[in-house]
Amino acid sequence: MLIALFIALLISNGFAIQTKNEVCTLQSICDNIVEITSQVADIRKEQERQANILEGSPALFFEPGREPKALITKNNELCTLLSICNNLAALSSALADVRAEQERQADLLEKSCKTETASYPANCYEALKDSQKSGVTEIRVPEYSDNPFKVACDQESHGGGWTIILRRTDGSEDFFREWKDYEKGFGQVDGEYFVGLGPLHALTSSVEQELLIILEDIAGEGYELYDNFRVSGVHNNYTLESVGNYTGTAGDALEYHVGMQFSTKDHDNARPLDFNCAASCSGAWWYNVCYQSNLAGLYGDWLRWNSNYFYYPLKTAIMMIRPKS
Ligand SMILES: *[C@@H]1O[C@H](CO)[C@@H](O)[C@H](O)[C@H]1NC(C)=O
Ligand SMILES: *[C@@H]1O[C@H](CO)[C@@H](O)[C@H](O)[C@H]1NC(C)=O
Repeated sequence: MLIALFIALLISNGFAIQTKNEVCTLQSICDNIVEITSQVADIRKEQERQANILEGSPALFFEPGREPKALITKNNELCTLLSICNNLAALSSALADVRAEQERQADLLEKSCKTETASYPANCYEALKDSQKSGVTEIRVPEYSDNPFKVACDQESHGGGWTIILRRTDGSEDFFREWKDYEKGFGQVDGEYFVGLGPLHALTSSVEQELLIILEDIAGEGYELYDNFRVSGVHNNYTLESVGNYTGTAGDALEYHVGMQFSTKDHDNARPLDFNCAASCSGAWWYNVCYQSNLAGLYGDWLRWNSNYFYYPLKTAIMMIRPKS
């Protein structure tokens, strides 16, 4: 019968939800099923009541494929038939409503289950464990925001698992920007970009991080690996709190900046009192007096790493971090 079919559909759909979203809270699924079952029970009661009414005159049972209208005209002597038919129509439509509502809830359930359980990696190291390749991926850093955001991952250099926080490769992106841009980040994640001081603080304050810097100038390439990179929060103007110990082929040009607050051309926190390092050095950095490195400096002359091993303006500068194991 039509009604039995509806009930079967309702119930089977309910169970489908349960198996499909095992991870989702069972309670809400159970509530949903209890609700549907009770609605079905109500409808069933009404249907049985009507079935009893109908039983008094077996000829009135609908047969599959037969037009109710035909029955009515045959038996219209039995008076209330029209109202029974109307009731059945109303019941069918009520069942359809229940069904529509149940489907809507199932959709909602599925969506909410998806958003709850869709798990974003917290960084590129986790993405690597999920066997994601180098390239752009979405991460979620709860300490920064509930919303995931995109970063580029380097899953090859020095064992992989690196979240790229700054990348300069061709001068296509303007880095001579103001404070608000540096706070939230800017650029193209598949090209030149800076991840943002807000995310950087969140990423480096929750777990101890290594920092890998990869550099290239006309004379060659090099890297430097720092083992404890940490940036403080907005209240200290994102001070470079620590870089840790370092090793590599590029030489150090970052330790000089430890303890300095971040500076942009419109937010000068560098040492010299009457001199704006960010404005004068065409960049933004943890300027001291003013720099040994200037990896957010204007592409060309101002992109610098002044170590024992690097002298020329850089063609490539990439900074990336990874949780210390
Ligand atoms: C650097 O290494 C030394 C010796 O291994 C250690 O005592 C020191 O705490 C490290 N410094 C930092 C900032 O991690
Ligand atoms: C942060 O920077 C602003 C603007 O340069 C400055 O006024 C403020 O004193 C700095 N905050 C701290 C804690 O030094």
